[in-house]
Amino acid sequence: MSTVTLRVNGVEVTKDITPRTHLADFVREDLNLTGTHLGCEHGVCGACTLIVNGRPVRSCLSFAVACAGADVRTVEDFDDDPVMALLREAFSRHHGLQCGYCTPGMLATAYDIVTRLPDADEARIREELSGNLCRCTGYVGIVAAIQDVLAQGSHRSAVPVTAPAPLTAIATGWTPPPATLVAPAPVGQIAVSGKIDGGGTLTRSIAVPVPLERLWNTLQDIETIAGCLPGASIESIKPDGSIEGAFQVAIGPMRARFSGTAHIAFNATARSGDVRGAGGDRVSRSRAEGVIRFTAQPEAGNASRLTLDMTYKLAGPLTQFGRPAVVAGVVDQLLATFAKNLVQASKGEAIATSVPVGGIRLLLGLFRRLCSRVRS
Ligand code: FES
Ligand code: FES
Repeated sequence: MSTVTLRVNGVEVTKDITPRTHLADFVREDLNLTGTHLGCEHGVCGACTLIVNGRPVRSCLSFAVACAGADVRTVEDFDDDPVMALLREAFSRHHGLQCGYCTPGMLATAYDIVTRLPDADEARIREELSGNLCRCTGYVGIVAAIQDVLAQGSHRSAVPVTAPAPLTAIATGWTPPPATLVAPAPVGQIAVSGKIDGGGTLTRSIAVPVPLERLWNTLQDIETIAGCLPGASIESIKPDGSIEGAFQVAIGPMRARFSGTAHIAFNATARSGDVRGAGGDRVSRSRAEGVIRFTAQPEAGNASRLTLDMTYKLAGPLTQFGRPAVVAGVVDQLLATFAKNLVQASKGEAIATSVPVGGIRLLLGLFRRLCSRVRS
């Protein structure tokens, strides 16, 4: 591993990464900035283009360690940028995107053209864009959008938020490590850090119609709680209190089984605690990490309420399922069953065998969620 420090979207970040980690994987997987897309990973398609020290760079060909000290801007950093605002509007007006896969890279290159070549004609725009491939929209709308922004002339007064740095080699400050092969850690043995940078967050609370003391006693029974959670299973509880186990989830045709380790800490005075867990899915080679902070409080009528604050992060091929709407759909469905089981367990009743959440029921839930968002 090598420690690298660079500035990403105005924030200095320091991470321990393998020297072969390219910049695209670094921003997507370590910083959760998934607006940067990967197409060919061979420097051909330009989908991964982002801005390094003011210049468009193919992030699939740039080692993150080689960008030590550099200023990196991904598409997420351009929300308030006046030049990018003009380009976004023009892309939309001229139908410069369809599926949008190439668009973050196209916008990075378009931004460079507009700020560096204010007098570029169509031929020059096409030449400059030749390193960015679009597989569905074609180039007519994209070129027209850039021409439109250049013709408006307003980009000349719209000063870029970060002025491009002169074209110089990036100082790496990186010394290659000795050439020894380090075997990757088995996915089941990923360290539980409890600190998740750039992860998603979610808060939910469940009304539990049982007294606080009874709920608290149930919460401390780890095996019962695992039995309440659909898809969760415990393999062993170690002498140090850490738990080896697995969690299975399915979204439509996608199935994943994350095996890993969790630690639980209780605060009896505050009736709260936290669960920190990390694990990997061997089939997809994806990793998941999460922290759940829980608090139980009394409610009127001899009932109680369980509040859960969750921070989570997915890395690897399943990262796309870490989008907030998808995670919220999975969590809400899990919690619906968990709450029912928790009440039964707190009352001393047997709970039904828990099955992994997923399949058609989950897809329908997500569909309903999207429909209600469209209606509102
Ligand atoms: S993904 Fe980088 S050039 Fe295609
Ligand atoms: S908009 Fe689909 S690849 Fe360009």
